[in-house]
Amino acid sequence: MPINALQEEILRLKVQRHALILAHNYVDSAIQEIADFCGDSLELSVKAAKTDAEVLVVCGVRFMAETVKILSPDALVLLPCADALCPMAEMASGDAVRSARAAMPDATFVAYVNTTAETKAQVDICCTSGNAEKIVASIPRKNSILFLPDRNLGRNVAAKLGREINCWHGCCPVHDAVTVEMIETARKIHPGAEVLVHPECRPEVVAAADHALSTGGMLRHVRESGNKRFIIVTECGILFRLRNENPGKEFFEIEPRLVCADMKKITLEMVRDALIDLKPAVELDPDAAEHAHCAISRMLDVK
Ligand code: 13P
Ligand code: SF4
Repeated sequence: MPINALQEEILRLKVQRHALILAHNYVDSAIQEIADFCGDSLELSVKAAKTDAEVLVVCGVRFMAETVKILSPDALVLLPCADALCPMAEMASGDAVRSARAAMPDATFVAYVNTTAETKAQVDICCTSGNAEKIVASIPRKNSILFLPDRNLGRNVAAKLGREINCWHGCCPVHDAVTVEMIETARKIHPGAEVLVHPECRPEVVAAADHALSTGGMLRHVRESGNKRFIIVTECGILFRLRNENPGKEFFEIEPRLVCADMKKITLEMVRDALIDLKPAVELDPDAAEHAHCAISRMLDVK
């Protein structure tokens, strides 16, 4: 339900513009409240591709808007806060990955969706935090693998599958900062609560948790779990949906609270202005978009 005049204005503009508002689970709750769809990074683009909306407003960071554009090339894709970037995605540039390919011509390159379109265009297949194990398992064991850009997700998958994986040196500054001590302290303060961490956390943190799940996976797990208390170890924006959708359950955070500064850059004013001005729009190099589409399609084809 709209709770303020600005939200009401956005909802009116959205109808006038035949637009859909897509919000990542981490953005401010005032934006999640007026979104047509909230989800994890892949869910947003897959959902968008199934609609015939002329305008798709992506409330998140740039790689998410690029992925939406790759899967919905005919739509006008708006990123209301043009400088909201995922720092991890910026750690593997298209040029650097191109050079790595030349140095490792036989390796299968796997890119986490947290990459630019230009970088996705250089790789064999994409994966998300929710399907990384399945995607890597689909690659023949004889192939060597380069996983990018998240060394933590790569190492977590390697440990789970008992397989050697070469990892890029990237990481998410928010999740990489979590320590085992923080988890142990939270367990002491909230005894009996189940600990859910994002797989962008370090392997020792994942080992200290009960489950490592994507944001979409956390929402599903909590919904289906008989447990009533959870320690949530990912960006704090997800607490809005967790609490809203599970009124009988309790959610706790670790200290210090996990905040992604880029995910918090977008405001309601920016969403309103993007719908009025129909910019900033995401434009991609057509060649890069086509190659990136192949890497995403290969991922979607893995059953
Ligand atoms: P999800 O795909 O799990 O939503 O994660 C995106 C992200 O940026 C995690 O930090
Ligand atoms: Fe990128 Fe980490 Fe922010 Fe997710 S939480 S958008 S991986 S910096």
